[in-house]
Amino acid sequence: MGANAGGAAAAVRLSVNGNEYEVDAAEDTPLLYVLRNQLGFKAAHFGCGTGECGACRVLIDGRAVASCDTPLWAALGKRVTTVEGLGDAAHPHPLQNALIAEQAGQCGYCLPGILISAAALLRRTPLPNEAEVRAALDENLCRCGSHNRIVRAVLRAAREGAKT
Ligand code: FES
Repeated sequence: MGANAGGAAAAVRLSVNGNEYEVDAAEDTPLLYVLRNQLGFKAAHFGCGTGECGACRVLIDGRAVASCDTPLWAALGKRVTTVEGLGDAAHPHPLQNALIAEQAGQCGYCLPGILISAAALLRRTPLPNEAEVRAALDENLCRCGSHNRIVRAVLRAAREGAKT
């Protein structure tokens, strides 16, 4: 995938995972390209490229969006969060712990997008029911068929979060 889209490149400031970055890109460049190719945030994956699979999801001001289908300009002045900003191996997010506990990862390609959708859900609904989890993940495709384990993991994370 190319670094820039059709417009002229220009230096703009982008907030990702709590840090400010200067990026040189046309403002109509898909946010996913900037995150992966310019800033090195590789968690968001390229799947369909048309906003339909959910693999590229990131949070913009707490809302889950398809970064392949979101132009850079739509993220300027806002807070972008990728999975790298949720947690890491040393300090995993409760959702990451729960996915491991439920053995929910198969190939894992979809999981960054699922983590983002689930994190957005738990921010607005800290203790969701199963139907709410399924609705929140409705636009995240998993070709391995791990949906039931993934849903259990999100419910587990919510329960664990409610205890703390
Ligand atoms: Fe963005 Fe599929 S790659 S939704």
